[in-house]
Amino acid sequence: MTAYEEARKHLAAKRYRWCVTGVAGFIGSNLLETLLDLGQDVVGLDNFATGFMANLDHVRAAVGASAWRHFSLIEGDIRRPVDCERACRAVDFVLHQAAIGSVPRSIADPRTTHEANIDGFVNMLIAARDAKVRRFVYASSSSVYGDHPVLPKVEDAVGQPLSPYAVTKCVNEMYASVFARSYGMATIGLRYFNVFGPRQDPEGAYAAVIPRWVAAMIRRRPVHIFGDGETSRDFCYVANAVQMNLLGALSANEAALNEVYNVAVGDRTTLKELYALLRELLCARHPWVAAQEPVYGDFRAGDVRHSQADIAKASRLLAYAPTHRIRGGLEQALAWYVGQLAEEPAVCSSGA
Ligand SMILES: NC(=O)c1ccc[n+]([C@@H]2O[C@H](COP(=O)([O-])OP(=O)(O)OC[C@H]3O[C@@H](n4cnc5c(N)ncnc54)[C@H](O)[C@@H]3O)[C@@H](O)[C@H]2O)c1
Repeated sequence: MTAYEEARKHLAAKRYRWCVTGVAGFIGSNLLETLLDLGQDVVGLDNFATGFMANLDHVRAAVGASAWRHFSLIEGDIRRPVDCERACRAVDFVLHQAAIGSVPRSIADPRTTHEANIDGFVNMLIAARDAKVRRFVYASSSSVYGDHPVLPKVEDAVGQPLSPYAVTKCVNEMYASVFARSYGMATIGLRYFNVFGPRQDPEGAYAAVIPRWVAAMIRRRPVHIFGDGETSRDFCYVANAVQMNLLGALSANEAALNEVYNVAVGDRTTLKELYALLRELLCARHPWVAAQEPVYGDFRAGDVRHSQADIAKASRLLAYAPTHRIRGGLEQALAWYVGQLAEEPAVCSSGA
């Protein structure tokens, strides 16, 4: 039995209380679905800055009414200490996901990113400390590797951050480490690498590449590639990120605590390869994508050129074993997007 199967078995037999911040967002709502499916109690905190009630509606439909009764939502803000205190009350585990994501958004508006991602993070740390939670698992990001040139990325070799967003995630890791040292908290930092899957928002200027492209392809609109298409990423299906949160919360390995971990697969896919894969997977149902060609534009400020994780540390200390590589993850994610996104009859026009 894998460590993850054991963790799930343990949860199926024992009910804990979890706090999931950012619960109406992409990763948060996937955590919620898994926890409720496993019979857990969950309190969620979200201010709907980038999250959606529709995500929670999807989870409710997926888990059913009896599991849903074990969820309570606090519509609140991590920038308000009182909301964080409420969310952490009598909680065993915190999975802190709430943040303002996106590198370009942080370049356009560093203050908003700072307030949620640093002030809000410290509020959650203090509330979790005061509530004496067993473990504080939090979302960091591969962006902390910044300009460090070596591939694959190993946790202890980071460069200079390239955006305000990356700075906030570096600061999160420093604060978590200091709270462990100063107050004896048990923390686990998760450096997510380009997570994708159901409920990731395809709309808006700051949408992630996979949902943005899938929506454009299904709606017969042009796909825009920033740069020459050789930029690469370690795309990680959301089930792998959920696995890491649960392993991080439940691990009995003392050596695993107060560390940060890459959350990825260990593969590298260029944007050109990603486009070809999406075209192949969408073609049968949406034949027009076979004739679509991407439009190449300028590189985007703050984006790192290549990204690929070394996942040896997570495997060694948390017994992490990804269940999905990119193709398997895309098959699942596309099944969901195809059900959600309306097709548009119009043939390509300019502007996405
Ligand atoms: N998706 C990825 O590829 C990726 C990669 C690296 C890191 N991360 C990190 O993972 C976490 C989750 O990201 P996601 O992709 O699910 O993003 P998301 O935008 O879908 O979810 C973030 C959630 O946090 C909520 N939120 C934001 N500010 C808040 C505030 N002040 N108070 C309360 N709630 C607030 C939003 O409303 C949203 O529901 C974030 O910390 C993000 O930085 C994500």
